[in-house]
Amino acid sequence: MRDTVPDLGDLRERLDAARSVTVLTGSGISAESGLPTFRGVGGLWRTHRVEELASPQGFARDPRLVWTWYNERRNAHASVEPSPAHVALAEIEKRVPDFTLATQNVDSLHVRAGSRNVLELHGSLREAKCTRCDARQPLDDVLAMGDAFAHECGGMWRPDIVWFGEALPAGVLAAAFDAARRADLMLVVGTSGIVHPAASLATKRATRAYVVEVNPEETALTAQVDRSIRARASDVLPRLA
Ligand code: APR
Repeated sequence: MRDTVPDLGDLRERLDAARSVTVLTGSGISAESGLPTFRGVGGLWRTHRVEELASPQGFARDPRLVWTWYNERRNAHASVEPSPAHVALAEIEKRVPDFTLATQNVDSLHVRAGSRNVLELHGSLREAKCTRCDARQPLDDVLAMGDAFAHECGGMWRPDIVWFGEALPAGVLAAAFDAARRADLMLVVGTSGIVHPAASLATKRATRAYVVEVNPEETALTAQVDRSIRARASDVLPRLA
């Protein structure tokens, strides 16, 4: 059943008047491209073991299993296209003097849609990094090596992803909180709002912006945003662009 497309009311005016806009996205915006979310029906964490696939311990225990899973996810990312919602955010960015897109997604769909100021809070699947030194290389090159994930320094190649229990890249997180602090308007699209510190960007401790959530369901942030639009990203964002 398609969500009733809501009246956007003053949101267009707020967007036109905004000098500084920050957007926080989660896997729900990529659901519009056909990728599974994490916690929804059919979500990745409903059919996979978080601890074994997205944690340093899981990687240490079975690097081949983890690389197999990320190879599957990378192939899935490459097989879909940015949605109208991803494209709309790239369009909106062109009209806003100070625009920041902080995403929890690692699928590169915002980058592929043309967004420019993208903060990838949880990393991306474009690069691999060494567990021991700070060497990096394109993730596809590691996948091409077959099962040899060893780096010459004695470390191992791993996806450049923030796993559970790991700190987010400090510079990226600081830039995201700076953007939240500057924002007049914040859009929170397609996230359940339960993973921190990303979710805290949308709380009143982090921003004085008027915060609007776009999500077919209630989330952990719904009670504290200024407006929650119960709809899909592609039913709302293209109408703002
Ligand atoms: N449009 C907007 N929102 C949608 C849509 C849609 N078409 N479809 C689903 N959603 C919403 C769901 O209602 C849910 O609130 O997207 C949200 C997805 O939530 P999660 O599956 O928890 O994904 P996310 O919030 O991105 O998870 C955050 O947790 O697993 C870790 O690091 C991983 O980045 C991820 C983080």
